[in-house]
Amino acid sequence: MRLGKIEIDSPLILGPMAGVTDQAFRTVCAELGANVTVTEMVSSRALVYQDKKSAALLKKTEGGVCGAQIFGNDPEIMARGAELALGISGCDFLDINMGCPMPKIANSGDGCGLMRTPELAGQIVSAVKKAVNVPVTVKCRLGWDKGSINVLDFTKRMEDCGADMITVHGRTRAMLYSGVADWDMITKVKQQLTIPVIANGDIVSGETAMKCLKRTGADGIMIGRASFGDPWIFAEAKAAIAGEPIPERPALKDRIAVAVRQFELSEQDHGEHIACLEARKHFAWYLRGVAHSSYYKNQISSLNTMEDIYRVAKDVVRDLK
Ligand SMILES: Cc1cc2nc3c(=O)[nH]c(=O)nc-3n(C[C@H](O)[C@H](O)[C@H](O)COP(=O)(O)O)c2cc1C
Repeated sequence: MRLGKIEIDSPLILGPMAGVTDQAFRTVCAELGANVTVTEMVSSRALVYQDKKSAALLKKTEGGVCGAQIFGNDPEIMARGAELALGISGCDFLDINMGCPMPKIANSGDGCGLMRTPELAGQIVSAVKKAVNVPVTVKCRLGWDKGSINVLDFTKRMEDCGADMITVHGRTRAMLYSGVADWDMITKVKQQLTIPVIANGDIVSGETAMKCLKRTGADGIMIGRASFGDPWIFAEAKAAIAGEPIPERPALKDRIAVAVRQFELSEQDHGEHIACLEARKHFAWYLRGVAHSSYYKNQISSLNTMEDIYRVAKDVVRDLK
């Protein structure tokens, strides 16, 4: 698949996820097979007002192709925000969030709110395209709610306004993250567009990755929640799509080594305090499904220092399988 001048062989994309996909986690996923990653969404307005916290979220992933994602609903501010996001991050492409369902965002006309104002959404894509010299991509849903599914008209308009790739999460805004993603609507989007289409929603294993790709005919897939504590899902997806045997999940000690590497990267990026707060969440995910891990989950929820992380990691490897 081509994204502007970038050639991407069978895109396996880690979805942007606020509060989860920081640079450390994205880097680990990229090392283990996600060939495209995207920073979590950042407000274009906050960037224009030089908010330091927002800028700090825009660190490019080390390895693979990386996009910077912004949200907002004012074409001029989005254009300026896009320039700033790319200047700060050095990312390879700019992604516009038109899928966020959270009331604070969507009800103010940002994120999925833009699916209710397609003309404005198109103006945003045109303005951002004019402002930057990297590919501009859009991530959207099926529509606002069941009664107003407009993803076909909407994505056609985005393509006409210059979008270089579209990711469709097969849910409406009203569904948030529940119910089942409708891959058949993604098939229809793929059939009518000439730009690459990425399928997203409910890919939870190598097998579902392969099924989704076959069913939708999409150019690539995006994996969100199933990557939590499981960056190996990308290698599984890659093998399943290539028709190769799905690699075995590494042994617990090797999985914990990857987790610790992620927390070390996080410490380099955010410092020890934030790295430990982040590790409380991610470490628990790495232990999901591990028998008898609940004793350690209690310790994980009070991690305060890197020494705590190393100690718990050592004990987990010693005591659990
Ligand atoms: C905690 C969380 C945060 C998210 N943040 C973002 C975001 O910042 N930008 C975005 O485009 N999508 C965001 N999403 C949506 C995901 O990228 C993805 O579209 C969605 O989870 C569906 O994919 P999945 O079924 O594989 O999880 C978020 C999802 C979750 C669960």
